[in-house]
Amino acid sequence: MVAEKQHFFSCLDIPPPNMVTRTVDLRSDTVTKPCEAMRAAMANAEVDDNVLGNDPSALRLETEMARITGKEAALFVPSGTMGNLISVLVHCDVRGSEVILGDNSHIHIYENGGIATIGGVHPRTVKNNEDGTMDIDVIEAKIRDPRGQLVYPTTRLICLENSHANTGGRCLSVEYTDQVGELAKKHGLKLHIDGARIFNASVALGVPVHRLVQAADSVSICLSKGLGAPVGSVIVGSESFISKAKILRKALGGGMRQVGILCSAALFAVQNNVAKLENDHKNAKTLAVGLNEINGLKVNVSTVETNIIYVDLEESSNLTAEKLYKNLQQHGVVVMLEGPYSIRIVIHHQISETDVQYTLSCFKVIKLFACKSCPSLSVRTQGFMI
Ligand SMILES: Cc1ncc(COP(=O)(O)O)c(C=O)c1O
Repeated sequence: MVAEKQHFFSCLDIPPPNMVTRTVDLRSDTVTKPCEAMRAAMANAEVDDNVLGNDPSALRLETEMARITGKEAALFVPSGTMGNLISVLVHCDVRGSEVILGDNSHIHIYENGGIATIGGVHPRTVKNNEDGTMDIDVIEAKIRDPRGQLVYPTTRLICLENSHANTGGRCLSVEYTDQVGELAKKHGLKLHIDGARIFNASVALGVPVHRLVQAADSVSICLSKGLGAPVGSVIVGSESFISKAKILRKALGGGMRQVGILCSAALFAVQNNVAKLENDHKNAKTLAVGLNEINGLKVNVSTVETNIIYVDLEESSNLTAEKLYKNLQQHGVVVMLEGPYSIRIVIHHQISETDVQYTLSCFKVIKLFACKSCPSLSVRTQGFMI
């Protein structure tokens, strides 16, 4: 009875759609906007021509990222996509190279097939399990036998993704990563990690970034996702990897001049926002648990390890994801459509606990269109698409 009452009042806190002034943008952790302090860091950034190699703010960021990841050197690049592309191309610099990567990985699905179209690198996929891993025996079975090189491409690289976005931000453990690293070594291959959200994985697992990526020859790390910088990624690896990467960055048009303005924001993000990730993960869990309690919605709460939540609409619900999306949008809550009956929500540091509660209330209003315990709502929300 008490629970029903609370539920009713939380519904009443929601203004009708035409009076909504609030936006809760849950499409991605890429939507964050620089705070005042970050903007001040950008405005005051010391800059120089970074193609000529001496922008002090870029050097400061790269030095710090090399330190954090335990690698010899680092390089600022405009995006995670370019970071992954450059890394794959450095490791696969011989025609006829092949890379083993997850069938549900960002590089394979969302990066325009750049490794093939631009780099001429052949992708060989292994099924990503629900936790983002690929079975190690299957990876090994996919490594080409060099004796067949007359007809086979040559395997040169394995790519992992940590956290693994498409499986809901799941974290690859240090043990698993080390095992893949050992396998790579055994076969003379390199290991690249798409660590767009490696800081999320590090915080969730309680393992420092340098340890998590110890087995990797290169890592691409986004600063414009959960850490909140407006632009940019960093790739890290050996001195010789970064020297080659620098040439490819220029060839791909990623050599930028007074880039210190962006690097200062990125350094600010690394220094100030890593600590906020734990709260993002907590908010994601709270939201996931709350959504899963709503009739018609299904969230596998145990898989929410970091800041990404996949929400499925149960068959019993008469909503499609698109209708749910439009309903939420009318309340100022913006999510990402994933499929006909599935949406994605990503938490970031500009989403507060109040935003989480507001979002839950909005979901409840929509689901309560026909709710017997809140009769007044069915009048107030008339006109909603269900
Ligand atoms: C796992 C992963 N890798 C790489 C990228 C690419 O980053 P960018 O959008 O900066 O190119 C993304 C972007 O969402 C991502 O989620």
